[in-house]
Amino acid sequence: MSETSDDQSLASQLPEGGFPPPPEFAAAANVGPDVYERAAADRVGFWEDAARRLDWAQPWETALDWTDPPFAKWFVGGKLNVAVNCVDRHVDAGHGAQVAYHWIGEPGDTRTLTYAELKDEVCKAANALVSLGVAAGDRVAIYMPMIPETVVTMLACARIGAVHMVVFGGFSPDALASRITDADAKVVVTADGGYRRGAPSALKPNVDEALTKTEGVRSVLVVKRTEQDVEWTEGRDVWWHELVDGQSTEHEAEAFDAEHPLYIMYTSGTTAKPKGILHTSGGYLAQVAYTHWATFDLKPDTDVFWTAADVGWVTGHSYIVYGPLANRATSVMYEGTPETPHRGRWWEIVQEYGVTILYTAPTTIRTFMKWGDDVPAGFDLSSLRMLGSVGEPINPEAWLWYHKNIGGGRCPIADTWWQTETGGHMITPLPGATTLKPGSAQRPFPGISASVVDEEGKPIEPGATGYLVLTEPWPAMLRTIWGDDERYKDTYWSRYGQGVYFAGDGAKLDEDGDIWLLGRVDDVMNVSGHRISTTEVESALVSHPTVAEAAVVGATDPTTGQGIVAFVILRGDAVDSGEDLVKQLRQHVRKEIGPIASPRQIMVVQELPKTRSGKIMRRLLRDVAENRELGDVTTLTDSSVMDLISSKLPSAS
Ligand code: WTA
Repeated sequence: MSETSDDQSLASQLPEGGFPPPPEFAAAANVGPDVYERAAADRVGFWEDAARRLDWAQPWETALDWTDPPFAKWFVGGKLNVAVNCVDRHVDAGHGAQVAYHWIGEPGDTRTLTYAELKDEVCKAANALVSLGVAAGDRVAIYMPMIPETVVTMLACARIGAVHMVVFGGFSPDALASRITDADAKVVVTADGGYRRGAPSALKPNVDEALTKTEGVRSVLVVKRTEQDVEWTEGRDVWWHELVDGQSTEHEAEAFDAEHPLYIMYTSGTTAKPKGILHTSGGYLAQVAYTHWATFDLKPDTDVFWTAADVGWVTGHSYIVYGPLANRATSVMYEGTPETPHRGRWWEIVQEYGVTILYTAPTTIRTFMKWGDDVPAGFDLSSLRMLGSVGEPINPEAWLWYHKNIGGGRCPIADTWWQTETGGHMITPLPGATTLKPGSAQRPFPGISASVVDEEGKPIEPGATGYLVLTEPWPAMLRTIWGDDERYKDTYWSRYGQGVYFAGDGAKLDEDGDIWLLGRVDDVMNVSGHRISTTEVESALVSHPTVAEAAVVGATDPTTGQGIVAFVILRGDAVDSGEDLVKQLRQHVRKEIGPIASPRQIMVVQELPKTRSGKIMRRLLRDVAENRELGDVTTLTDSSVMDLISSKLPSAS
């Protein structure tokens, strides 16, 4: 399709003036347009109201302490137990029989957990962790498939004040080991395996291998899920069903300080070493609960909420576990992949469980688009009333497809911009208040102060492009990088001076002042909504014996957003065995980091384009990878290297 016809077909679907809130939706919405004024009039007071939606064992004295920026403290002096807020208080209020999770295994097995059952499971797991010697403040690594025990373990940690550190099951033993070392975890909770794409996929062997590379782990608690054979280390490994099942369902929960650490989640930065993002209790829970309630218009008595993401990412932490549970939501939790056993699996789940709110990522929406309209059309999706998007900018085409083919033209879409670091939604439309513009995340959430600035930090004019910054602290903000306060300051708070958070995203302001996110401006790629650092993949490649140097770029990809393209220079004595070598290198990256980091394309080149100061010019490599005409090459030491590289590329004409 030519550009013009694309534009025309898109324009013809865009109603003049955007998509206003459907009147019936707006009339019954949890929040209306007035929320913005309320929050602007008293920002901190607004968040105090949000925090009052939780149960506090002891009220706070000071809502926000920002006397030592960038180290914020929220709800100082307050005490609460996060797990009690997510589970017990709903049971105590008479909602024990309400379903917390409709869990669906990939092979088709199911499990329903009511709030009362969840409470029993969490108490048993809490007692089990205590019996393993886990105390408040200790770190517990969780390396699990998407099964109820994963949520139970997270809540059990929260209940006893232990800090969980969930590592996505797709990460390699090396990646797991380095995170365990950095967080100094004493216990690992895992499973024999999980189901992915119709087959059991092992997890325990990865833990065994990881533990040969790190010290300090005393116990490994193993859930039996796939019945795969596992190696067993006596004295260290314990079966979940042997330890947890027999525990008491009584557990006296202690209230912890609002700033007590809740979890660490590792995310990619611009260097090879992942950053351990630290979240604490009171502010985090207040913001994820309030945003979950307001952004999705959650009605706990009638909605069936589904975040179709993995618990191993922040989206799962905030909007599968903490936000929904704090709001007493009924959620769907699905273990597997969208195409197993068929491409209509998600829509079958929506139909069967009457899902009313669905939250997923643009990359998945584009995959569904590729599979065709007739797949969702074969199911009854009329229960849906609200949709959400997260992880990367959603292109207007995908937005419109989602709106029409999944939302039946009636469901508002919340395009939610936020990060592992922000903990919860930061920029998003509100379904009862905002006239939607496909492709734009639009407005800062009430109580959030964001701005788009130029290189000097001055706010830009409408129509211009700049960098997204956050100008006031917010309750769910990261508190530091685990063990590295300096890196926390340098990475986020040094570029524009004190008190201004640099998000790492480019953004545009339109004439109405709405924000359009443009992707990362640093060396972080976004592949299927996963953040992967170019440096991390480069260092994995150069750790292979044949590779002397590597440069990695994220090239635009129609489905995954970006695809990883690597350029490598071989060592003098290495033999270029063509496809064979490429396969080996890909395998090596999978082993070092995990399958999500496996390059889409690897090219062996003689030289890399470098500036005179020796910096690799990724911009030029991206031009090559995206088959574009080369940009400015004048700062290169030797501009002929680009001809050489281009000639290697089958796709670059
Ligand atoms: C990107 C995921 C545009 C952005 C919750 C951010 C988005 C990074 C959006 C954080 C969105 C996330 N529109 N870009 N709605 N949501 N991003 O830490 O580049 O995995 O900085 O958190 O994803 O990714 P993370």
